[in-house]
Amino acid sequence: MEQKNKKIIIAIDGPAGSGKTSSAKLLAEKLNYIYIDTGAMYRAVTLAWLRTKSELTDEVLQSIMRNIKIELMPSENGQITMLDGVDVSDEIRSSEVNSFVSPISANEFVRNNLVAMQRTLGSGRGCVMDGRDIGTTVFPDAELKMFLIASIDARAKRRLLEYENKGITNLSLDDILQQIVDRDQIDSNRAISPLRKAEDAIEIDTSNITLSEQVELMYEIALKTINRNE
Ligand code: CDP
Repeated sequence: MEQKNKKIIIAIDGPAGSGKTSSAKLLAEKLNYIYIDTGAMYRAVTLAWLRTKSELTDEVLQSIMRNIKIELMPSENGQITMLDGVDVSDEIRSSEVNSFVSPISANEFVRNNLVAMQRTLGSGRGCVMDGRDIGTTVFPDAELKMFLIASIDARAKRRLLEYENKGITNLSLDDILQQIVDRDQIDSNRAISPLRKAEDAIEIDTSNITLSEQVELMYEIALKTINRNE
């Protein structure tokens, strides 16, 4: 099917390891849309906090938010995340960042700042944005919302593989499973913009499909929506 020219906003939400980041990036490429990984922004704030070696308090986070500069740049591999002018794309995927990103993301000041940035970045152009609250808070009027889910086992195995590919071998499957359960718990129960499926989101279970099957399915859904919005 030939792609037409109407540019919509596609919101992709879901828990850790549901395949959002990999599939959203490939979907954006196929549609020739920009891709925005909002998790990377929360991760960059977490890295900035880890570097301060300070306690996790509202004051510290507010000061960090006032002083850091986060930039997202498109690249051949998806998106480069810059913190104060330096590429931190790999560093923000560390296990240490994974351990602290959910508590930091629950902070109201952090969220308000990042959500405002995300709205500016995504408005007025074809964009695939992935996160936890894109369909519910950042772009509640997005033309297309997809909510990805997968079994806890499938999600933990994917994260283990991701770590192994990076040469990180000190975490067992059980450690990773626990990390994911903890993050789901915090993300789903926080007061502000908790992780939940928007009522009008299409749910996709990715437990038993390959990444390319997942992307193909999402692409077909996107094309239908784009054509309907023409
Ligand atoms: O890749 P993975 O699904 O593990 O995580 P991510 O999408 O990079 O997001 C990392 C963390 O940032 C999440 O666990 C949330 O705590 C937070 N986050 C959020 O609160 N809101 C978003 N829109 C995106 C991420």
